[in-house]
Amino acid sequence: MNRKFSVDSNEYPFRDRWMPYRDGTIHYIDEGSGPAVLLLHGNPTWSYLYRNVIRELSGECRLIAIDYPGFGMSAAPSRYGFTPGEHSEAVTEVIGRLGLKDFVMVVQDWGGPIGMSYAVRHKENIRGIVVMNTWAWPAKLLAMKLFSLAMGGWPIGYLLQTRLNFFAKTIVPHGIYHAEKVTDSLRHAYTAPFPTPASRKPTWVFPRSIRKAGRWLAEIEAGLKRLSELPAQIVWGMKDSAGFPVEEMRKWQKVFPLHETEMLEDASHYVQEDRPDRVASAVRRVLERTKTNEAYASDTSRE
Ligand code: BEZ
Repeated sequence: MNRKFSVDSNEYPFRDRWMPYRDGTIHYIDEGSGPAVLLLHGNPTWSYLYRNVIRELSGECRLIAIDYPGFGMSAAPSRYGFTPGEHSEAVTEVIGRLGLKDFVMVVQDWGGPIGMSYAVRHKENIRGIVVMNTWAWPAKLLAMKLFSLAMGGWPIGYLLQTRLNFFAKTIVPHGIYHAEKVTDSLRHAYTAPFPTPASRKPTWVFPRSIRKAGRWLAEIEAGLKRLSELPAQIVWGMKDSAGFPVEEMRKWQKVFPLHETEMLEDASHYVQEDRPDRVASAVRRVLERTKTNEAYASDTSRE
């Protein structure tokens, strides 16, 4: 399959992998070998978000990053609604088809609910978790509800996303603390997946789902207690422009009593862009904390 758009190959030097998904196609990357680490993105990002984390961890583990249908290079199947529940089903399918076992899950933004929806149902498959600025419960904060209304409402939010590509063009650069990292090639990588108004719908469904997926989020929240014994690294961007306050981080600390937390004063919402080195360190640390698992884990390396 061909790429839908060009990406700077110095920035994203990975081999494309494609998996048929119903009548669509999921694009993912699968680099290296060793213990498996699954990297889950949010809105409006894709596997590109993890390029520098992957570079940092090169040679240490197997890194799998998926583009959800409608994001990055992936093509959505027909009648796909781009809801987080559907993305979680797609992720579950990829995990099953790749035979991933005993893996580390890394989540940020909508990757949190999407990943936790899997984790609460398949706890036995999760070796440890790295959590960045995210949540996995119904929105309680007024700021989040207002964000959902503004960005995922009708008609203003809809027009902002579909006509102006607002999330990719404006929210992403504002969600990166280090302004010098917002290069032309980065802007291109995040806007190019959405060339037409119709292609931008997924970026509207996500903020809309903060209000509309309340029941799905509540089910995940109810299952989080099952994860309490998992080792977790929390890496929190303290300058989050999307308004994730430290209260959400404290909530994750309660979900994962075995957590180790690093608060980053120079990271905003897209922690992977601001501090890929610290995200990589968190992955390394969770692998180190769970090293004894390796003796029991089946080899999930690619053939
Ligand atoms: C969203 O796209 O729904 C979203 C983005 C940033 C923070 C929270 C939600």
